[in-house]
Amino acid sequence: MIFDLTQTDALLATTRAVRKRLDLDRPVPREIIAECLELAVQAPTGGNSQGWRWVVVDDRAKIAALAELYKTVARGYLVSARDEATEKGEGQTARVYDSATWLADNLHLVPMIVIPCVEGRLPDMSPPSLSGYYGSILPAVWSFQLALRARGLGSALTTLHLIDEAGAAKILGLPDHVAQIALLPVGYTRGTDFKRASRPPASGITHWNGW
Ligand SMILES: Cc1cc2nc3c(=O)[nH]c(=O)nc-3n(C[C@H](O)[C@H](O)[C@H](O)COP(=O)(O)O)c2cc1C
Repeated sequence: MIFDLTQTDALLATTRAVRKRLDLDRPVPREIIAECLELAVQAPTGGNSQGWRWVVVDDRAKIAALAELYKTVARGYLVSARDEATEKGEGQTARVYDSATWLADNLHLVPMIVIPCVEGRLPDMSPPSLSGYYGSILPAVWSFQLALRARGLGSALTTLHLIDEAGAAKILGLPDHVAQIALLPVGYTRGTDFKRASRPPASGITHWNGW
């Protein structure tokens, strides 16, 4: 199969963390999420473990409870980080934290929340365990985000709710052996014209045949 690189490269280069441009008024059909998750589980896992589990939340009361929890644990930190970046004149970082603060204030309005989980807790903190554990779920999460973007939807990978992972587990009735990895607000995007991020070139941080 020959891919259309204009399309694939645009998808890879313009899939952003979408917060303020989530369309809060347009419902997200469950079928689209199911379709994107079928693509996500084509991602690799260490030892073909496939320990991923996906909790999709479209119940308004549960979204409201998760949003309240997120705001409680995240907002203070995000506001401080935004103010600090603004004071230092770090424009891009200040904009990210401003957007993240907006999400903390508006998460209760998003059409859907997806929480990627792993069945089985991180065994220990050794480098192979850490890499194998998170490396067996985050590629699938990114595939999910790419599949959403290809269909006109957006998402943002967030992790701050894990400060009160137990509280979120209670809201969702998750057993102790299921570890939450992230929380993604999901919705259609307002417009689809997302841009490449401004990043230093990869050539400046690439080492060939050694450091
Ligand atoms: C591991 C990880 C954790 C993140 N946690 C949060 C978070 O808790 N809240 C949030 O609003 N964004 C979070 N983000 C999104 C980042 O802020 C975002 O990816 C970054 O600013 C770059 O923006 P871009 O994805 O649009 O290029 C997280 C991203 C990653 C990869």
